[in-house]
Amino acid sequence: MKQTVTLIKGDGIGNEIADAVIEIFEAATVPVEWETAEAGLACYEKNGVALPQSTLNSIIKNKVALKGPTTTPIGAGHKSVNVTIRKSLELFANVRPAKSFPGIQTRFNNVNILIVRENIEDTYSGIEHMQTPDVAQCLKVITRSGSMSVMRYTFELARSLGRKRVTCVHKANIHKISDGLFLECFREVAKEYPDLQSDDIIVDNVCMQLVTRPEQFDVLVLPNLYGDIVSDLCAGLIGGLGVAPGGNIGNGMAVFEAVHGSAPDIAGKGLANPTALLLSSIQMLEHLGLHSYAVRIEEAMRLALVQGIKTRDLGGNATTREFTKAIIANLPRNYETPHDEAPKQVNSMPVQVSKEVKEWKPVGVDVFVQWDGDGVVPMPKESGAFTLTLISSRGTKVYPGEVPNLMMVNWFRCRYTTDAAITQNDVANLLTDLYANGVKWMHCEMLFDADGAHAYSKAQGE
Ligand code: NAI
Repeated sequence: MKQTVTLIKGDGIGNEIADAVIEIFEAATVPVEWETAEAGLACYEKNGVALPQSTLNSIIKNKVALKGPTTTPIGAGHKSVNVTIRKSLELFANVRPAKSFPGIQTRFNNVNILIVRENIEDTYSGIEHMQTPDVAQCLKVITRSGSMSVMRYTFELARSLGRKRVTCVHKANIHKISDGLFLECFREVAKEYPDLQSDDIIVDNVCMQLVTRPEQFDVLVLPNLYGDIVSDLCAGLIGGLGVAPGGNIGNGMAVFEAVHGSAPDIAGKGLANPTALLLSSIQMLEHLGLHSYAVRIEEAMRLALVQGIKTRDLGGNATTREFTKAIIANLPRNYETPHDEAPKQVNSMPVQVSKEVKEWKPVGVDVFVQWDGDGVVPMPKESGAFTLTLISSRGTKVYPGEVPNLMMVNWFRCRYTTDAAITQNDVANLLTDLYANGVKWMHCEMLFDADGAHAYSKAQGE
């Protein structure tokens, strides 16, 4: 039975590279039926909407889509189609294989890394504020459910692909609470997969190791921001964005797409390299459990590259059509139609979890204040049940004790704590009292104890 897949050709070179994939799939007798849907700039210009609901509905119905690049106007115009698809369908994992190909000249020829990036949270939640005219803040949001979802999917995927080792990349030595939670979820899920090796590494170290000995890594799982950076680094290891495929996975759905954009500079000239979209479609076939077709097409592409039939961006002089024809010519002839076993689809439903905490008790508040005077902001030492126990400037303690010799900015974190039983209402009264004392606060953060342990960070310098 044929699997229906939503196909969004997109803008710019989208048509040319999508047509190449369609032709190769036909020649390889892949049991896939395309349902074409519109999205992108051309769609916006035609219909006044860049991502029609009918396109989203098609993806929801078919559960799988292949997407060409879509143009996003800079500064004004419609929202990015990619971000809207990712957020509205809860596609929580971005999966990017980085694999060396013969015929593509790079420093390394032995890279075979699968990168799984959390796709929704972290600093990409987009929660940013100017706290004073001179201080910007971006919230890094890591949730247990988001982390568990991406971990569970990563281990399931690693197992289904016969991978051996999963490595969690983080910066939990500095971001002890946020990256600490990501790592905690990794360790919890890893226990359920004793057949896979699991370990972790700090993000700066992994960058250094990747550019010296990339062959040591198998599967990497990362929070959103590190994943964004490290996956492009890995794309560089295998020949750049032109050959980097990807898939956005989650909620039982998947949207596969090349990492590159719509390349308006070469659109319509027949020069586009379809490799990245073809590799994305090969990733899609693996996702659909159509492994034998994936292997056959990848092998044909590998042969074309070895024969030196390459597009201009890879140092060759083949057109999109010539490269496509070469791949088709390299598909094995006279084979029996392969029968893949029942598709080994990997469960990609989000995991909603909540840690059981017996006591989640408010014990104080960090009040963030603006102070444009000299030195450390003068704050009331006591207010109601609260005592001022800490002031920090950019995370470094400046009260109590000696003020270190450091540059102050007009933004201080002032910590009030108490042993008394308090509620949010006591904190509201504290804020009112501080305001009456001339304190310009702009933000506060409740401090909680979880079963007797602090659920917040100490200041640097304590
Ligand atoms: P781009 O990736 O489209 O192009 C950068 C350079 O790489 C250009 O010189 C282009 O000719 C070349 N290139 C890209 N893909 C190629 C291919 N398959 N074959 C041969 N050469 C290729 O990046 P750019 O110019 O920054 O973005 C153009 C548009 O694409 C923008 O509107 C951007 O928002 C959008 N974009 C869309 C993405 C998506 O839909 N997934 C991802 C990245 C950008």
